[in-house]
Amino acid sequence: MGKVITIKNNKGGVGKSWITLQISHALTLLQKNDRDFYKVLILTSDSQNNILDFSGHNENEIEKTLEDYVKTGKRNEIRLRENLYYMPLAKSHFSKIFREKLKNSIETLKNEFDFILIDSVPVLEIDQDFLDIATDIIIPTYMDKATTGGILRLMEEIDLKKIRAIIPNRYIKSKKTEIMYEELKNNLDGTGILVTEPIKQSSLIHNLIEDGKTIWDSKSKEVESFQMIIYSVVEELLK
Ligand SMILES: Nc1ncnc2c1ncn2[C@@H]1O[C@H](COP(=O)(O)OP(=O)(O)O)[C@@H](O)[C@H]1O
Ligand SMILES: [Mg+2]
Repeated sequence: MGKVITIKNNKGGVGKSWITLQISHALTLLQKNDRDFYKVLILTSDSQNNILDFSGHNENEIEKTLEDYVKTGKRNEIRLRENLYYMPLAKSHFSKIFREKLKNSIETLKNEFDFILIDSVPVLEIDQDFLDIATDIIIPTYMDKATTGGILRLMEEIDLKKIRAIIPNRYIKSKKTEIMYEELKNNLDGTGILVTEPIKQSSLIHNLIEDGKTIWDSKSKEVESFQMIIYSVVEELLK
């Protein structure tokens, strides 16, 4: 039975979509057993479908959406990479019936995919459903006062047992951010929640995104430090 991993932060721009893609791609590169690699599906509650852009695809490729699947059971997800699929979202409003059917639909998908990652945005009603369905939650964050305050509040609202990792992203090193990072780590010490090394705000990452490439598509030596950080999260998910 597949795991459902929701990537969550109420704040925009912290790297939820980008990190969802990097973790998902990493998982597909790992062998599940002697014969198979892990099969991964990405879902989203964001009708902007940024994942398509970030992986070098575009909205013209969309044939069927999450809405179609929930309504009719018919699906045609977009293949982003080998063993990596994306089911886009068309709308940003959902009926009560849709929400009731959503959970069952995702349960069915768990039979086919080893991991379902959900790139979530806070504005929608289905965001709560995606937290309920999640077996694991990952929180990308930004090292400033407002965002750190936001995630501490978020952690009061969600099931702490589900939180696997917090990933400081778009990190700009300074005395202040260093202190904030150390405080976050100390606060979570002993909780079992991994606070990863920070991922820098990086022009290399910016360029990869512009080219529709993930850190796993790049042979550059410089991406290795980013790959190691993402891999530390993957290890938590495989536990
Ligand atoms: N570590 C990073 N370095 C440089 N650019 C980044 C990094 N992480 C994300 N970005 C860029 O920052 C923007 C916000 O990231 P995104 O994943 O869309 O955030 P969210 O989904 O949380 O709104 C995107 O344009 C993305 O390309
Ligand atoms: Mg996003």
